Amino acid sequence: MPTPFDIVFFGGTGDLVMRKLLPALYQAHAAGTLHSGGRIIGLGRRDLGREGYLKKVEESARPHIPNLETEAWHTFCQRINYLPVDAENAEQFHHLAALLGAEAGQNSRALVIYLSTAPHYFMPICRHLAAAGLNRPATRIVLEKPLGHDLASAQSINTAVAAFFREEQIYRIDHYLGKEPVQNLLALRFANRLFEPLWCAAQIRAVEITIAEELGVEKRGEFYDQTGALRDMLQNHLLQLLCFTAMEPPLSLGDSDVRNAKLNVLRALKPFNAYSVRADVVRGQYNAGQIRGENVCGYREEANVSPQSLTETFIALRAEIDNPRWRGVPFLLRSGKRMAGRLAEIVLHFWPEAHPVFGCGGSPNRISVRLQPQESVKLFLQMKVPGTSLCVHEAALDLDLLKIFPERRADAYERLLLDAIDGKLALFMRSDELEAAWRWLQPVLDDWAARQPEPQPYPAGSHAPEAAIEMAAACGVDWRNR
Ligand code: BG6
Repeated sequence: MPTPFDIVFFGGTGDLVMRKLLPALYQAHAAGTLHSGGRIIGLGRRDLGREGYLKKVEESARPHIPNLETEAWHTFCQRINYLPVDAENAEQFHHLAALLGAEAGQNSRALVIYLSTAPHYFMPICRHLAAAGLNRPATRIVLEKPLGHDLASAQSINTAVAAFFREEQIYRIDHYLGKEPVQNLLALRFANRLFEPLWCAAQIRAVEITIAEELGVEKRGEFYDQTGALRDMLQNHLLQLLCFTAMEPPLSLGDSDVRNAKLNVLRALKPFNAYSVRADVVRGQYNAGQIRGENVCGYREEANVSPQSLTETFIALRAEIDNPRWRGVPFLLRSGKRMAGRLAEIVLHFWPEAHPVFGCGGSPNRISVRLQPQESVKLFLQMKVPGTSLCVHEAALDLDLLKIFPERRADAYERLLLDAIDGKLALFMRSDELEAAWRWLQPVLDDWAARQPEPQPYPAGSHAPEAAIEMAAACGVDWRNR
């Protein structure tokens, strides 16, 4: 049975709500997974009125919905309401409380309050919510990234929100955790004992985790120029994928067990030292180049980006997890904008055959878990080439998961919003995980702040800056062909 709910969006007229969150809720509505009495309330500074807000939703959210059905859209819009609430205006929070009524946030009806605003509003919003009596047993606060730009700012966000809400009420979102293939990674690892003995340093030579994008910074030049790839992608998405890949079997799939298992990985990351902070990190920035045959400009020519910008649009990092399972195995993480193709993938590279009796051909085994664009799991094996010669060649056991399970996939935000409504925390970051990730990366940020290093250039449409290709090659991984 779907949980009755009210969901409230601070930043209700913003891009994320229009492009992602309302379309995600629409899909859940159309699929029948939302409670029929569930209400959606957009908040913004301006007094748009419900009609004005619905007009904005029609213009800005509807175009982002594939396979929209007019009747379902019509009934979805009936759930939507709007209220002018300024984060700094305490009185308006009482209007919100009045609109929500006494039942919202009580155990029979979840109250999800999504803060899709700049983090400096988190504190006043939480304070005013609590003062208006909206901290109730089933109130859940969803925090959208960026959750800090370094360890100290992440700690202040945690402290500010914790002053008014318990940790079990706080849902720190990382949309990568809502992606179906990321959860499938848990199934691959923990529902197939076949893999357990292989998933360790004795068998695996290197692990590669890539999130590559063809897109540039789009209209977000100003935000991105103060953020860069480490903060935008590595600190959150890449490290979460690393945790799912490397964690020990959790005691259960319950909230605390999964989050404890991830935290243990973050805590076991080998700290940077004065040498590794430079040798194991490559930052790059794209120059002009071509994407799918189209000329695109360099990063410094993008709108609202400083022409002298030192911000990295690419990051590659070699990490090591200092625990018995993984000691000595390089984890190669990379993410970049304007790269050769869109790809999110985890690859485990096995050691070469210890006694290679097939002298001809062959390459070490690999397992690839692809998140996007095409969800798949592939096991690369060596097979004999037909004929009289004793040569082997790579062939893949290829699980095309979209063919095997053609069911509709909930979009990542849809899945996570439903989990927040249902009070499931496993796919959200806990405060200690967030801080552990920042704590590990802080020496890199400090080094960059002190040295202001010039990023390595790479042409738009390429695989990575040369220095990153060399770093991967030293670990036996070729970054030029994927
Ligand atoms: C966001 C980043 O968190 O993730 C964006 O801020 C990035 O810069 C996006 O484009 C990528 O997400 P996805 O789901 O399209 O791979």
